Amino acid sequence: MKVDDRILITGARGLVGSALADHLRQAGHVNLIEFGRDTCDLTDTAATIAAFERERPDYVFHAAARVYGIMGNLKNKALSFFDNVMINTNVVEASRRAGVKKIAAMGTGAVYPYPSPGLPLREDMIFLGKPHPAEDSYAHAKRAMLAMLQAYEESCGMQWVYIVSCNLFGPRDKFDTEFGHVVPSLIKKFHDAKQSGGRVLVWGDGSAQRDFLYVKDAARAVQLAMNNCTGAVNMGSSEVLRIRDIVSMITQVSEMQGRVDWDASKPNGQDYRAYDLSKLAATGFKPEYSILGGLEETWDWYCRNAQTGQSR
Ligand SMILES: NC(=O)c1ccc[n+]([C@@H]2O[C@H](COP(=O)([O-])OP(=O)(O)OC[C@H]3O[C@@H](n4cnc5c(N)ncnc54)[C@H](OP(=O)(O)O)[C@@H]3O)[C@@H](O)[C@H]2O)c1
Repeated sequence: MKVDDRILITGARGLVGSALADHLRQAGHVNLIEFGRDTCDLTDTAATIAAFERERPDYVFHAAARVYGIMGNLKNKALSFFDNVMINTNVVEASRRAGVKKIAAMGTGAVYPYPSPGLPLREDMIFLGKPHPAEDSYAHAKRAMLAMLQAYEESCGMQWVYIVSCNLFGPRDKFDTEFGHVVPSLIKKFHDAKQSGGRVLVWGDGSAQRDFLYVKDAARAVQLAMNNCTGAVNMGSSEVLRIRDIVSMITQVSEMQGRVDWDASKPNGQDYRAYDLSKLAATGFKPEYSILGGLEETWDWYCRNAQTGQSR
């Protein structure tokens, strides 16, 4: 990508999209087109095609999605499937019609089969079995986008990279205790308990293990993948941590020692997920932040913005 290329980012006010916009601006890109839901409802086919025709982007970073955590995915299967299939289908087709040179689309580690066909998970294992039942509708919608990109490459020569992302966290996440992802939901719980002088109730037993990545590192990784990779590419830090380890780091960052309880009746999700990161590593990517460092920045950001009502 050249610095004056027209670069469209969908979901540009979300966790990943906003970090990507910041990162690309800092890297000198001057023609960023940042789509929020208010710019264009991407479930609307005609509106999406018209918006892409109007903007005629050279490159597209597709980070818009209906995103939930585990409980949100469990309770909103129909909505998650419908919105994500519509959004992804419209964005890929609109990119084709607008003559986009390449699209980098956000996938998710949820696309991998459960139980895992082998560990670490390699990109060629995605279609080897069914996804975990807790997030299958979201995963199938994301798999459909991967199948669509493959078909569009074969039929129309579309250039693409599909980022199979680990768990991300950072500023401008959805800090939602019921439907959010694990880190933002924990940060809000810890913040609320700190404000009220109460205790924190954490879902699950903390045994599930995940690869976590701070979103500022993710933005660098996605740009590197756009510039250097094709096909599906796993994205992670290679640091696989138990939820219990994350809870312990947030306890340290928030100074809430001795004020945590566990609710083992709530779902844990898939027990262990680790990725083969060799494709991404070949781009030269290495995380610059430790997980603790990323959690510190996120906690500070949330504390500042929760007070002014700016956090989501
Ligand atoms: N966060 C993670 O841990 C994680 C892990 C793996 C993969 N991913 C993937 O990474 C991508 C970005 O996730 P994220 O965490 O940045 O999510 P996010 O913070 O929820 O951002 C998604 C953005 O998409 C927008 N959006 C939703 N529906 C839309 C619609 N109908 N039309 C236009 N825009 C719409 C949202 O706008 P509103 O805010 O206005 O609704 C939001 O700004 C997604 O594809 C997700 O599946 C994320």
